[in-house]
Amino acid sequence: MSVTGIRAEQPGDPGSIRSLVTAAFGRPDEADLIEALHAEQAVLASFVASQAGTLTGHVLFSRMFIEDGAIRIPAVALAPMAVHPAHQRKGVGGQLVRHGLDWLREHGESIVIVLGHPSYYPRFGFSSLAAEAIESPFRKEAFMALELVPGALRGVSGRVRYARAFRL
Ligand SMILES: CC(C)(COP(=O)(O)OP(=O)(O)OC[C@H]1O[C@@H](n2cnc3c(N)ncnc32)[C@H](O)[C@@H]1OP(=O)(O)O)[C@@H](O)C(=O)NCCC(=O)NCCS
Repeated sequence: MSVTGIRAEQPGDPGSIRSLVTAAFGRPDEADLIEALHAEQAVLASFVASQAGTLTGHVLFSRMFIEDGAIRIPAVALAPMAVHPAHQRKGVGGQLVRHGLDWLREHGESIVIVLGHPSYYPRFGFSSLAAEAIESPFRKEAFMALELVPGALRGVSGRVRYARAFRL
């Protein structure tokens, strides 16, 4: 079995990313979202998992804000994330998330938001409790936040403003 490596997306990757994301979600919508996020230059970071030259997973981070009146607090949206069905449940998703969060921390980001499986993301430190004071159109248990800098969410409230590509 070959080792999975995580690296930043490269110029030749978009076609393989589209294929694996479409296979993981069983539809093209999330792959379209990725292209739209790149087109509006909202992408902060995009990482792929690669095994013997084949892409097996992908995660994307985009700029978003928490808005409270005139105050706009920058945050990062983790979405979408996908692991090819043939490679799921082998830790690839976990490697992608941890790599991405380390990169964001090193690059000065302090808040990450995810809409996802309530049983999956808490293992990385995300919690719906941390996102309690943030208004979103999503069901509470699936809407989670993570502080990359301790205390970053203290006193933060307001409404989420995602990149336009999310069409929210
Ligand atoms: C969710 C996903 C990215 C996880 O990637 P992965 O490489 O399979 O995950 P890992 O191997 O790191 O972790 C496996 C864990 O994820 C959990 N998991 C996987 N898919 C899950 C799901 N749909 N709901 C809840 N938990 C899930 C498994 O139960 C497993 O938990 P365990 O370790 O306690 O057994 C992948 O399953 C996927 O691409 N799914 C389809 C697309 C999708 O739903 N994307 C995420 C949107 S939030």
